[in-house]
Amino acid sequence: MDPVLEKFISRNRDLVDEALDKFVPSIELEPQALHEAMRYSLFAGGKRIRPILAIAAAEIVGADKSDIMPLAVALECVHTYSLIHDDLPAMDNDDFRRGKPTSHKVFGEATAILAGDALVTLAFEILGSVELSRIFPCHRVLAVIRDVAEACGSRGLIAGQALDMFFEGKAADDATIEKIMLNKTAALIRAAVTSGARLAGADGAQIDIFYKFGEKLGMIFQIRDDLLDLEGDPKKLGKAVKKDGKRGKATYPSLHGADHSRRLILNLLVEAKELIEPFGETAHSLVLLTEFVARRVS
Ligand code: IPE
Ligand code: IPE
Ligand code: MG
Ligand code: MG
Ligand code: MG
Repeated sequence: MDPVLEKFISRNRDLVDEALDKFVPSIELEPQALHEAMRYSLFAGGKRIRPILAIAAAEIVGADKSDIMPLAVALECVHTYSLIHDDLPAMDNDDFRRGKPTSHKVFGEATAILAGDALVTLAFEILGSVELSRIFPCHRVLAVIRDVAEACGSRGLIAGQALDMFFEGKAADDATIEKIMLNKTAALIRAAVTSGARLAGADGAQIDIFYKFGEKLGMIFQIRDDLLDLEGDPKKLGKAVKKDGKRGKATYPSLHGADHSRRLILNLLVEAKELIEPFGETAHSLVLLTEFVARRVS
């Protein structure tokens, strides 16, 4: 990995982990098993891509990353909830996540469902807490709460998950696969960059760029995930591979093959980088992050 990017990721990952520890209830608090399950999945070792994207976007617009931490934490809580529920027997039925047994394997299904529920509600508690509204104007905080809610609701991530499940084992065309990816993955990634930029005070034209960029990056992210399911290393990924074919998931590689999918990633990468060109040198970290997402092996 590029040494500049490596430093950027590891420094921000540490800050996000510190903030998560601060905002997420301790396992000493009742109900202990629930807080233990929430922390188990959060601290199992995710890449923290969404919080880091929010930080990168906010820095481009000129905010201080320490001010963005409640948003970073909220995004990671929403994402982790989506993974816990995605792995449940009623959904993808997976046994490993982030290199460890999945939440329902360790704590049972009821606690895993509740830990997910508690993480997504905690995200909005944190976004609505004084930490953000003390630093940023309330209208910006409100807009961010709406952005994140929209991204994870029934016209965003949950819509994508519903379609993903509905099309298991069924024939899906390009438009359907695109709709699944845009919703289940790109919506939250797009919200990470737009909400980071919005909090920092981005104007309409800047938000528009981040919106389009986030969508491309989200598509890259999911096609890469689908490719890694075909040819990735489960040890590096921390999750099982070759599950999508078995479950008959509607993915881009299943419809068009791996080579075509790799080419699509490269095209999307060019388009994504072009979109943020107007930000010049200030967007250097975001460019490196985008390249990383396109080539990631974990
Ligand atoms: C996995 O997301 C789920 C998808 C949207 C493809 P990540 O690859 O970001 O998972 P972690 O957070 O690093 O575990
Ligand atoms: C998951 O997509 C997307 C969300 C969790 C919203 P996948 O089902 O492909 O993710 P993995 O492969 O289990 O991480
Ligand atoms: Mg899934
Ligand atoms: Mg899954
Ligand atoms: Mg996958």
